Amino acid sequence: MNMNWFNRDIITIENFSREELEHLFNIADKYMNIKFKDSLKGKIIANLFLEPSTRTRVSFEVAAKRLGAEVVNVTGEYASIKKGESLYDTLKMLDSYCDLIIIRSPIEGSAQFAADICEHPVINAGDGTLNHPTQAMIDLYTIKNTFNRLDKLNIGVYGDLKYGRAVVSFILAISKYDNKIYAISPEQLKIRNEIKDELLNKGVKIEEFTNLEHVISELDVLYVTRLQKERFVDLAEYERVRGSYKLDLKSLEKSKPNMIVMHPLPRVEELTYELDSTSKQAYFRQAKFGIPLRMAILSLIFGVEV
Ligand code: NCD
Repeated sequence: MNMNWFNRDIITIENFSREELEHLFNIADKYMNIKFKDSLKGKIIANLFLEPSTRTRVSFEVAAKRLGAEVVNVTGEYASIKKGESLYDTLKMLDSYCDLIIIRSPIEGSAQFAADICEHPVINAGDGTLNHPTQAMIDLYTIKNTFNRLDKLNIGVYGDLKYGRAVVSFILAISKYDNKIYAISPEQLKIRNEIKDELLNKGVKIEEFTNLEHVISELDVLYVTRLQKERFVDLAEYERVRGSYKLDLKSLEKSKPNMIVMHPLPRVEELTYELDSTSKQAYFRQAKFGIPLRMAILSLIFGVEV
């Protein structure tokens, strides 16, 4: 058992060292082929989702069930939050009923708030525009699984780098290793200055581009993300940038033979379905790795053996 993971809150990818992530990936490897274990029998996990989700919510639930735990799902639509109950009271209740709380919320800082008031561990399943730590862990795992390493790669991130928490968390995660980051986006969706400055201060090699065509031939990974419509402060601005970037077969013509396309999903208009059947498509296995990876996270937090 690794004491660094036991009973731990997972709030931001920035809190995790390369050694801790390596340990996680080794455990996830072991769960790749395990369909069921009852090591978490008797545990009850709360899935508090105050924003839409398919993969994150379901894969946490499936991972928990594959380890023998029970899951209660609480969604914004049906919870008493809808009647005006505070997030504080909601969390207090869940903390008194359950052994672990997974929270997704549109408000940045919600997961830390939950961790501060709950006795049980809290996992951030995405809050606001910055943190989605377990998605970032899956993303790293996908790259490691493909290239057998996490460094010496040219990493492109493409799309809404301003509001996309999955892609921002991925950037923070991959910049823990020695890579070059190509941040490609329309002008209005550039990575926020405070994040870029933080990376530059740490010595991360990151360069910004507006045209994918200029850099596509250099990339080993291209991580695409959708336009985060729900996070735009001004819908007129959303309408202006809508459709301003898209990845199709043609845009990959000059790419390296082994480069991969990743995407946290859901996709809307930025990734064409014609890529699905190509060897560069990595987003479906990326989504699938959510199960062994989240099984590994849960077992490490509860301190059970594989
Ligand atoms: C992401 C999210 O919710 O931040 N989805 C996910 O968890 N895989 C990405 C998105 O919604 O675009």
